[in-house]
Amino acid sequence: MKEKFYLTTPLYYVNARPHIGHSYTNIAADALARWHRLTGKEVKFLTGTDEHGQKIARAAQTEGMEPQAFTDKISQTFSDLWKVLNISEHEFIRTTKASHKEAVYRVWIKLNEKGDIYQAAYTGYYCTHCETFLTEESVRQMQAESKEILCPDCKRPAEKIEETNYFFKLSKYQDWLTKMVETGQDEQERPFRIVPETRRNEVLGFLKANQLEDLCVSRPKSRLAWGIETPLSKDHVTYVWLDALVNYITACGYDKGSVNEWWPADAHLIGKDILRHHAIYWPIILKALDLAPPKLIFAHGWWVIGGEKMSKSKGNAVDPVEVANRFGVDAYRYFLLRETAFGSDGLFSEEALTLRYNTDLANDLGNLLHRSLTMCEKYFDGVIPSGVPTEQNSSDIAERARNLQASAAHLFAKVDGKMRDLAFSEALREIWAVINEANKFIESSAPWTLHKQGKNDDLRRVIIALAETLRAVAKTSRPFIPEKAKELWKQIGMSEDIDKPLSVLELETSAHLTMAGVKIQKGVPLFPRIEA
Ligand code: MSP
Repeated sequence: MKEKFYLTTPLYYVNARPHIGHSYTNIAADALARWHRLTGKEVKFLTGTDEHGQKIARAAQTEGMEPQAFTDKISQTFSDLWKVLNISEHEFIRTTKASHKEAVYRVWIKLNEKGDIYQAAYTGYYCTHCETFLTEESVRQMQAESKEILCPDCKRPAEKIEETNYFFKLSKYQDWLTKMVETGQDEQERPFRIVPETRRNEVLGFLKANQLEDLCVSRPKSRLAWGIETPLSKDHVTYVWLDALVNYITACGYDKGSVNEWWPADAHLIGKDILRHHAIYWPIILKALDLAPPKLIFAHGWWVIGGEKMSKSKGNAVDPVEVANRFGVDAYRYFLLRETAFGSDGLFSEEALTLRYNTDLANDLGNLLHRSLTMCEKYFDGVIPSGVPTEQNSSDIAERARNLQASAAHLFAKVDGKMRDLAFSEALREIWAVINEANKFIESSAPWTLHKQGKNDDLRRVIIALAETLRAVAKTSRPFIPEKAKELWKQIGMSEDIDKPLSVLELETSAHLTMAGVKIQKGVPLFPRIEA
């Protein structure tokens, strides 16, 4: 049976159209999903839209639309974007789906049976933008300093609200969670990792310095009707974050009352702004439901533009479709995953994208392919030659060719190691290190001179090493730049399916697979240069 891998992205709010920041998580998740498929796993890849709550109800009202029609429209822009960006096979969940409502309903029943839900009158300050009540502590501080009550996260004014609601006993599980974050596993030794380390420390520090307040998990319908009704009261709907987090188990069959073999998730990919919800609320909800914690939560950084986080509300959002149309989908994907480490913030600019394009894609990769294929045509009529018997392989060029072949063969294991850590940028750096090694090899071996001098054995060695390098580059870069990798694969004459999973030999022992006799199919340049 195939090993399984279940990964998720956040569910995006449908109050506005997607921007670069949203596309980032899905592109990263797609590269990860494709890599795991390439290493032979069965992958479940979940994304979707978060459609309830005040923020969305208000956005619909502003547009003069019914919430359902409005969410249908915006949700579609997200699924359309995933097609444009070549996001591979995935499930698209919407929180307005009947099966999801059923799952949320069952969560309520179970939490209530557990004795973890109670009703109480509540007075507090609420931030509609973040869909969160301010903590009593933060309100006290602002009141003490006679300041306007602003949301500590987004700095918008918070609204004072008085109402009766349902609460979930978050506080009861604080010690349990602290221990789990500290040890990286629960009491049954099931893994729970928060990555990067700085985020894990942030969560741990918060848990040690603060007393968790119970979570208000309902909203009165009189104030907000756009939500999933709770089975405990006809007058309340579910808090949008409880609703949204449950999606990760709805997709594993929780609408039937239990989870299937896909739970626990192998990786939740999220942005750092929603760490608290995923690393504090979610594991506690799962514990109360008697379910395993997710194995990994990875909080990535933000795309920043002109010194500020890119966001619709700041008016600095860039449309991913426009950028992809200008630079190409693969160049856009490459830039996002290469430019910055997955856990860090990245600066988005067209200048930076143009530079990466011309340097890494057009110069390094594009030229390597072009030069290699041109020489193969010129010296070997476009057919990859067969190897030279080893006993004659004592020349200097033979040794350097062997080194390059070894680097190419080791690339699979190296990229695999980086992908296990979700280190996309480093995985690409490994691939480009081999590309650059190959380019240097062309310079130092000077095949044109070998040809002139009639050193045919060495010339064969050079072409064979280059072809094998390009094959390894095509296969390992497929998850990042899917269409261009496929084009590269075709141009070097490979007829096998590029998505055929890597063999254990390829992954672990760097088997040497010959390409002798393969007829290349030189085509148009992969990445024509862009003028700045
Ligand atoms: N609906 C919630 C998530 C619920 S998950 C059960 C939500 N939605 S969101 O649309 O506001 O944000 C979705 C994701 O987009 C978050 O992970 C957030 O970090 C990410 N990004 C939004 N702007 C971003 C950047 N400028 N850069 C990178 N990612 C950012 O939160």
